Amino acid sequence: MQEILDAILSTDSTPADFAALALPESYRAVTLHKDEEQMFAGLDSRDKDPRKSLHIEDVALPELGPGEALVAVMASAVNYNTVWSSIYEPVSTFGFLERYGRLSPLTKRHDLPYHVLGSDLAGVVLRTGAGVNAWKPGDEVVAHCLSVELESSDGHNDTMMDPEQRIWGFETNFGGLAQIALVKTNQLMPKPAHLTWEEAASPGLVNSTAYRQLVSQNGAGMKQGDNVLIWGASGGLGSYATQYALAGGATPICVVSNDQKAEICRAMGAEAIIDRSAEGYKFWKDENTQDPREWKRLGGRIRELTGGEDVDIVFEHPGRETFGASVYVTRKGGTIVTCASTSGFMHQYDNRYLWMSLKKIVGSHFANYREAWEANRLVAKGKIHPTLSKVYTLEQTGQAALDVHQNKHQGKVGVLCLAPSEGLGVRNAELREKHLPAINRFRDI
Ligand SMILES: NC(=O)c1ccc[n+]([C@@H]2O[C@H](COP(=O)([O-])OP(=O)(O)OC[C@H]3O[C@@H](n4cnc5c(N)ncnc54)[C@H](OP(=O)(O)O)[C@@H]3O)[C@@H](O)[C@H]2O)c1
Repeated sequence: MQEILDAILSTDSTPADFAALALPESYRAVTLHKDEEQMFAGLDSRDKDPRKSLHIEDVALPELGPGEALVAVMASAVNYNTVWSSIYEPVSTFGFLERYGRLSPLTKRHDLPYHVLGSDLAGVVLRTGAGVNAWKPGDEVVAHCLSVELESSDGHNDTMMDPEQRIWGFETNFGGLAQIALVKTNQLMPKPAHLTWEEAASPGLVNSTAYRQLVSQNGAGMKQGDNVLIWGASGGLGSYATQYALAGGATPICVVSNDQKAEICRAMGAEAIIDRSAEGYKFWKDENTQDPREWKRLGGRIRELTGGEDVDIVFEHPGRETFGASVYVTRKGGTIVTCASTSGFMHQYDNRYLWMSLKKIVGSHFANYREAWEANRLVAKGKIHPTLSKVYTLEQTGQAALDVHQNKHQGKVGVLCLAPSEGLGVRNAELREKHLPAINRFRDI
């Protein structure tokens, strides 16, 4: 592994040098163990501690298949799916691996008693499989997390529609929280040259998701002048949604839960901010009963901030706790676009407000190949910036996941895999210099 790292850190390694590197038989990775699936049975979600379920251990290097690449991972990031996997909610990810394993002898590789997690990476291509021409050893890359087979026509217009669509490192094995990862080469994209490894590894999943959900015609199709209510506006998804709203000429109305998060939204350029804790919204009177007066209070607050206008789009992901309010506050003809249900997936809303006011609820999930590419392109051009707040070592991934689980983080949380320290991997210092304050926005607070 040291030789691989030396080649990456050296400034004059050639593709031939990378191709000549011997690959190790095993590598260090963050794993879950199948025989521990029941370890948290009976516990409340908040009492399930990822530090107990996530292991750091050596695992065997998988065989490289056609159309695939083995990538030396310099850095990765924690996503909320790392939290879901590590607390075995809503289901154990081993079921995904078993199902994938039944597809073909090649996918059978994924069905193992351990699961290497991680749906983001920045690193260097080590080997490519048969039939790969666009990428070669030595290429500096990031990977998006869409894994598809594309054997059915269903996914030929929009790769998210593939019946065999999976999220790499969540519904497949050999993810990015490791020294080496296995990806399909269609997941690879050029690493933004002005970013460090850990900065480059952090946008991938959430940036692509926010792009489809908010900007793409497959999501809300945001346009100039739209008012966009963004829940969790300084969080993983929200920190990108806020940037997309601002960059696209829309007005974000950012919902956060404390002053520090409000400050980050202001630093991104947002002006309309709602502190849901300080303003004490309580959309549920008890477990089964919502309080429409609280929806109305939120709507009134939005109008105060927008000069009397309602929101064209609600960027939804908290789910059960906020969904009734989200449907209520959307303007006539507006769109509630949802990609998650962090607080519960059985939503309840008053349908009269939906049909009488001709609103739409749109489901959105990750991003297709093209959307992921567009989202990465915007990062590479310095138009959208990483929102990295804190970086952990691979050994500390359990703590990093706990922080995200407990909502103690800002923006994105990074993980160093092979990179020996932060700050490495910048290839375009001039572009970096130009955007340095924006790149460090989440770090400085
Ligand atoms: N479908 C997809 O492709 C996809 C992709 C990415 C993420 N997701 C899902 O989307 C969700 C959010 O992911 P993320 O990466 O943005 O997570 P995150 O970094 O934890 O950010 C979520 C933010 O939502 C806010 N929030 C949490 N619970 C809330 C509640 N009950 N009411 C109102 N606001 C609440 C919090 O902000 P404040 O405390 O400041 O309000 C939090 O910072 C997760 O469930 C994740 O699995 C889905």
